[in-house]
Amino acid sequence: MYLLGIDLGTSGVKALLMDAAGKVVASASESYPLYTPQPLWAEQDPNDWWNATCRAIRCLLTDSGVPSASIRGVGLSGQMHGSVFLDERGESIRPALLWCDQRTAAECAWITERVGERTVLETTLNPVLTGFQAGKIIWLRNHEPENYARVRQVLLPKDFIRYRLTGASATEVSDASGTALFDVPRRDWAYALLDTLELPRAWFPKVYESPELTGRVSAQAAQATGLAEGTPVVGGAGDQAAGAVGVGVVQTGRASVSIGTSGVVFAHLDAPQVDAQYRTHTFCHAVPGAWHVMGVMLMAGGAFQWYRETFAPETDYDTLVQEAETTSAGAEDLLFAPYLSGERTPYPDPQARGAFVGLTLAHKRAHCTRAVLEGVACGLRDSLEILKAMGVPLNELRLTGGGAKSPLWRQILASVFGQTVHPLQAEEGPAYGVALLAGVGAGVWQTVPEACAATVQLAEQTEPHPEQVATYETVYARYRRLYPALREFWS
Ligand code: XUL
Repeated sequence: MYLLGIDLGTSGVKALLMDAAGKVVASASESYPLYTPQPLWAEQDPNDWWNATCRAIRCLLTDSGVPSASIRGVGLSGQMHGSVFLDERGESIRPALLWCDQRTAAECAWITERVGERTVLETTLNPVLTGFQAGKIIWLRNHEPENYARVRQVLLPKDFIRYRLTGASATEVSDASGTALFDVPRRDWAYALLDTLELPRAWFPKVYESPELTGRVSAQAAQATGLAEGTPVVGGAGDQAAGAVGVGVVQTGRASVSIGTSGVVFAHLDAPQVDAQYRTHTFCHAVPGAWHVMGVMLMAGGAFQWYRETFAPETDYDTLVQEAETTSAGAEDLLFAPYLSGERTPYPDPQARGAFVGLTLAHKRAHCTRAVLEGVACGLRDSLEILKAMGVPLNELRLTGGGAKSPLWRQILASVFGQTVHPLQAEEGPAYGVALLAGVGAGVWQTVPEACAATVQLAEQTEPHPEQVATYETVYARYRRLYPALREFWS
């Protein structure tokens, strides 16, 4: 018995096969292009997604030798917030606008004004951000009326794959939460909001909870992918919620800190809760009846990558980190502001910029490296502080992503947070989380927490270093003053 998880990322799709014990038996990835026809625009062709998904599944089945009839369920995950516009034949009308596309500032302002800011915040629990789906639909109406006239359905990226796999138009609560058209407390489309914006209700797919059955692989899709006709496909989840399931952040008191290109602090909630200033996102979780709150720092691992590529392209990450280890906590009073491509949490400011502050002749490359690692840790602490102020319990922090692999960075994070951090034994990302959801849908496990308890394993924890905790309190207090002080240079 096997479960299939598919994660439709921004650079490529990953397909993964898991056995009944949660062990990954095979995985395959396929990539596709990202188009930037104008600055700030980001588009992909949904047909590229589908073709790459078919190739990845075929490759997975061939390489693993697993018979398709033994796959009990499929879970779908993917990049959130994007818009796929389909015509009456179910064909994509134009390339999809992605989560990182920034063209919709005017449309977002218009939506907020038209609906009323209070209603937006009370209903969707978030401000209308440029990445979210709503602005993209209004943009099409304003800028491509001929295309808009042909629209019969609007889908999120992973739900387009579902549509091709099963013929069903369906979504689930975690991904729908990121459209700015969803009633997040009530876990359904915000119908009154759709009416106010004059968006036909019929364009939006049926909503399910993440482990629920949404459709079955069609004969046509079975031909294209090699999967067995009739294989169940469950709701799945947006990539952040799916990733959280994959590392077991599925009950109160648990949170994850993930250092990929971006940095995300994600906490489970039993009831919807928001930051008073809406600096974090509150969305439905992939655990039925639960929500989550997350802070997103745009450049975390991405800042370290930029640093190495710019200042030490000949040196590998491990060597740079070993060098940094020879310096002491606080990098001799050198601070790094990680806002290299603007920021989202805690400063929703596209104009924010990065900086080294406090350089002296005594500083060597090792200090600069350490300052980068510490600056990212301080940026992540900003999100943790917001969650703490909201009263979200953060008893157990699970550390994930590429940044979690460095022992020094783990030590810095634990000491900057003043809290133990728990890395994972193995980590496969969102595809793993939705394979677990498929298992719950197929009855392998009764609940999402039960699936996680049976499969997700923690590695050895990293404790904060008592002396460093005191030093980092001072460093963090100084870091907090960077953004307000530097802001005038960027505006
Ligand atoms: C979540 C977010 C990203 C995208 C792309 O809010 O913007 O996680 O889903 O991966």
